[in-house]
Amino acid sequence: MTNVPHSTDPTALADADWQPDSWSRRPALQQPKWPDAEALASVQRELSQLPPLVTSWEVEALKEGLALAARGDAFVLQGGDCAESFADCRPSCIADMLKVLLQVSLILVHGGGKPVVRIGRLAGQYAKPRSQDLEVRGGQSLPAYRGDNVNRPEFEASARRPDPTLLLRGHERAALTLNFVRALAGGGFADLHHPENWDLEFIANAELEQEYGRIVHEVREALRFMESVAGRSIREFAQVEIWTSHECLVLPLEQALTRRVPRREGWYNLSTHLPWLGVRTAARDGAHAEYARGICNPIGIKVGKSTSPAQVRELVEFLNPSGERGRIVLIHRFGASEIAAGLPPMLAAMDGLAAPPTWLCDPMHGNGQSVTASSDAAAIPVKTRRFDDIAAEAEAAMELHSAAGVPLGGLHLELTGENVTECVGGARRLSESDLARAYRSHVDPRLNAEQALELAMRLSHRMRSARGA
Ligand code: PEP
Ligand code: CO
Repeated sequence: MTNVPHSTDPTALADADWQPDSWSRRPALQQPKWPDAEALASVQRELSQLPPLVTSWEVEALKEGLALAARGDAFVLQGGDCAESFADCRPSCIADMLKVLLQVSLILVHGGGKPVVRIGRLAGQYAKPRSQDLEVRGGQSLPAYRGDNVNRPEFEASARRPDPTLLLRGHERAALTLNFVRALAGGGFADLHHPENWDLEFIANAELEQEYGRIVHEVREALRFMESVAGRSIREFAQVEIWTSHECLVLPLEQALTRRVPRREGWYNLSTHLPWLGVRTAARDGAHAEYARGICNPIGIKVGKSTSPAQVRELVEFLNPSGERGRIVLIHRFGASEIAAGLPPMLAAMDGLAAPPTWLCDPMHGNGQSVTASSDAAAIPVKTRRFDDIAAEAEAAMELHSAAGVPLGGLHLELTGENVTECVGGARRLSESDLARAYRSHVDPRLNAEQALELAMRLSHRMRSARGA
């Protein structure tokens, strides 16, 4: 890290002053306390020599899709685990995640009648911000689990010690994940002609299955119709793309994957297509914003009731001074009970920006609740979210956006293709007494595939009636 004079005014930095490490002049929140600076620096050097995960032309193509969504001409589905785990870097988990993303997006295509831009929270979503630095259990206090890139979830001193070599393993696991996703998507698995490839075994709700079956049938018929009109197979329309995203949190890692590319200006973070700033690290004067301002990727920004609209406006202008379209994705997460008060002033504050941001609704992170999951063995405190709150926030978002005349550009969900019991409610009426049965997340509770499909169908009905279909 360079030793540059400290300045408190971010606008004092001319663009030429930006370097991948200039974030280190600013306060960096939510960074692990790495015990050995030299070990971290050595990992950073190694990472900076490794091949990247994505390319600059993919990043530019995603920005085009995001610009369409900002105008209401496409809809974004950003979804995946709260925190990916190294242990779940397995073919079945990855394929199931892809399946649920494809199924949900098919429902949204059908409902919205526009292209869906699919973005996974995957292939690098290995670092978490935490509200407490320490976790206390039975009188013992240890550093909080900060994601598999940093430490391990077991409540033991050795597991919780931040270990920079995990960043290397994370890069490798992300590469394995993305390689498999690309192979599946490119190899016909994601072909819209064959949505039967995406069936998840455990979906056992008759109503959901029937409705999903009907949607698949209609989409297939529409494809057949277009192909008979065109007189040829329209594979290029039927193939889908999956982009990647993760929270831009551990800055030495993001820095090491920030590269220049031939024949294009500027710097790209080539570890992911869409890095986002979490709600805890989105201060304009902070290190994360300073890092993000210098890269050419689109930038996601989480906003909620703790963020003031005027500050978000300043941050957006700071990160996108040239008004590039598709550059800024604002992901709002107010909570079902706060969105009606919080969202309209946030939308109004972005009025008149040269490039309208792409707005996504994250109906997950404002709706957390702490409850006790009791199993035969013990009563464990866990976080859950109620399906009804999640659906209510997403539905309110659709209405509030429409009332303000600002397109809702998409949805941001924590979901999994596995049959977990982490969120309560939904068609199977999961209750708190079900949570202990299959609670697998180490951080936030995810919608299981059935709950995700059910949510998508509810929203899709609204989309259809909004466009008079
Ligand atoms: C997350 O997306 O997992 C997260 C931590 O979100 P937020 O920054 O909105 O709390
Ligand atoms: Co989360």
